[in-house]
Amino acid sequence: MKLIAPSLLSADFTCLARDIEMINRSEADWFHLDVMDGVFVPNISFGIPVIEAVRRLATKPLDVHLMIVQPEKYIDAFRRAGADIINVHYEASTHLHRTIEAIRASGAKAAVTLNPHTPVHLLENIIADVDMALVMSVNPGFGGQKFIQNSTEKVKRLKELILQKNSASLIEVDGGVDSSNAATLFAAGADVLVSGSYIFKSTDTEQTIRELKGS
Ligand code: DX5
Ligand code: ZN
Repeated sequence: MKLIAPSLLSADFTCLARDIEMINRSEADWFHLDVMDGVFVPNISFGIPVIEAVRRLATKPLDVHLMIVQPEKYIDAFRRAGADIINVHYEASTHLHRTIEAIRASGAKAAVTLNPHTPVHLLENIIADVDMALVMSVNPGFGGQKFIQNSTEKVKRLKELILQKNSASLIEVDGGVDSSNAATLFAAGADVLVSGSYIFKSTDTEQTIRELKGS
């Protein structure tokens, strides 16, 4: 599967409706929404009211990436706001299995996210229960950072684990994705690529999305 999920973190917030409509028109598959709490990551972005507003205009699934501590407290609120996929960090989830079950009970798809330093093998007892695993290819907190090269190896290892455990989990990669690494990541086993600054800083955003999808 080759899906593209533009990250709205790099959109122009004074023209959010315009940028949402651009993604609606484009070949992008999902909206990626980065929620940061200033505790789990050293930055604060946006939360539930903004996601509710995006939901009213977006015609594609909302992939919500929670970079927050105690994500289990807010699952139902994000689901009500319109999240179709809820990503929680492995590092922020003491009782990850319970949190994944709660996400699924809410009706959303459940995803687990790994920071760059977190090894793939730590997912061996949860990979069969998730709809997706997200490999962070930058340290979470900011758009526009440089892709960490080791992430491609992690995608390959994750693909092996998924096959070994008979899991149906998709693999998503987030951070520093552009035309220089997209094809390699898809070839390594990635199903979904998140891209923020590369798309929104380009002069023809729809064409950039088309190129990434064709990688
Ligand atoms: C980083 C976020 C990413 C970010 C990607 O903490 O999770 O989704 O917006 O932005 P780029 O593509 O600019 O690295
Ligand atoms: Zn993200």
